[in-house]
Amino acid sequence: MAETVVVADRLAPGGLKILREVPEFDVVETVGKGPEALRAAIAGAAALVVRSETKVTAELLEAAPNLRVIARAGVGTDNIDLEDATRRGIPVLTAPGGNSTSAAEHTFALLLSLLRRIPWAARALEEGKWDRKPFEGTELRGKTLGVLGLGRIGTQVARIGQGFGMTVIGFDAYVPAAHAQAMGVELLSLKEVLRGADILTLHLTLTDETRGLLDAERLSLCRKGAVLVNTARGALVDEKALAAALNSGHLGGAALDVFEPEPLPMDSPLRKAPNCLLTPHLGASTREAQQRVAVEIAEAVRDALVKGDLRAAVNLRGLAAAHVAAHRPKD
Ligand code: MLT
Repeated sequence: MAETVVVADRLAPGGLKILREVPEFDVVETVGKGPEALRAAIAGAAALVVRSETKVTAELLEAAPNLRVIARAGVGTDNIDLEDATRRGIPVLTAPGGNSTSAAEHTFALLLSLLRRIPWAARALEEGKWDRKPFEGTELRGKTLGVLGLGRIGTQVARIGQGFGMTVIGFDAYVPAAHAQAMGVELLSLKEVLRGADILTLHLTLTDETRGLLDAERLSLCRKGAVLVNTARGALVDEKALAAALNSGHLGGAALDVFEPEPLPMDSPLRKAPNCLLTPHLGASTREAQQRVAVEIAEAVRDALVKGDLRAAVNLRGLAAAHVAAHRPKD
C-alpha cells in the first residue's frame, strides 16, 4: 500500500517531482487549504513536509499517529516541536545546505541597502524629489564585521565581508579556533565581538541557550553607532531593547529579516524605530535556494522512508534506538 507524504507548505517543483516519482508514495499537497485539510491529510500519513509556515505542534502530531518522518525544507526547526517529535520517536529531517548562499547574500543586500540608504532614497525619488544630501552613506571597506555564529552561513558572510575589505572577528562557542583562523577570522569572546564590531551580524541557531542573546545589557556593550543585521532568527534579539537602542541613537541602524513572532506585529516598536530596515523573512527566498532545498529535502524523505537512511535527521541523538528501528522501512 502506498504511503502518504503530505506537503503542507509550498515546495519547489524539483522536490515535488522527486517525491511523485517514488512508486511507494502518494503525495498530497495541502498548501493553502487550511488547517482542517491538513489534519485530515496527516491522519494516516507517513511523512509531513513543511517549510516555516506550518507550525508542527504537539497537538498536530497527536493527529498523525503513523508519522515516520517530519521534513523541514530549510534549516531552522523552530516551527517544529522537536522535543515532542523526539519523544514520539519521529526523526526530523532538514535540508541545511541549500539556503546558505542566499541567506549570506541577503545579509549583504540588507547591509548595503541600510548603509547606502537605498530604500529611503528610492522612495524619495518615487515621490519626485532629487535630493542627495540626506542619503550620504558609509563604506564597508576598513570596517570591522562581527559575525556571531560561524556555521555554513556565517562562514560565507565572513568570506564576503573579507572580499569587501572588512576585518572579520567572530564568536562561536562550538567552532575550533583553528577553523576560524583558517578562514582569517579572529575568534573572540561574545563580549569582545560586541565591543569590537562596527557591524554585527547574526548567524546563530535559535536554542534555549541563544534565545534573547542580544538583550539590553549586551546591546549596551556594542560600539556607539554600530549596526546590527539579523537574517537568522528574531528571537535571538530582545526586540524592545533593540528598538530602544535605535531610538536612543546608541545603535546607528538595524537591518532585520527575521522577527519574533512572524509576521511582525503591526504594533512592533521596530516598525517606527529610526534607521531600521525590515524585510519579511526573505533570506532563503531565491529561485536557486528554493529549488536546492526542495530537492535536498525530497531526497532525504525518499531515502528515509524507502531505505531507512536517517542521515538528514537532526534529532537522532535524542531518539531511542528502539524508536529509530520502529521507523525503519518494512521489508
Ligand atoms: C530556514 O530556516 O531555512 C530559513 O530561515 C528559511 C525559511 O525559514 O524559510
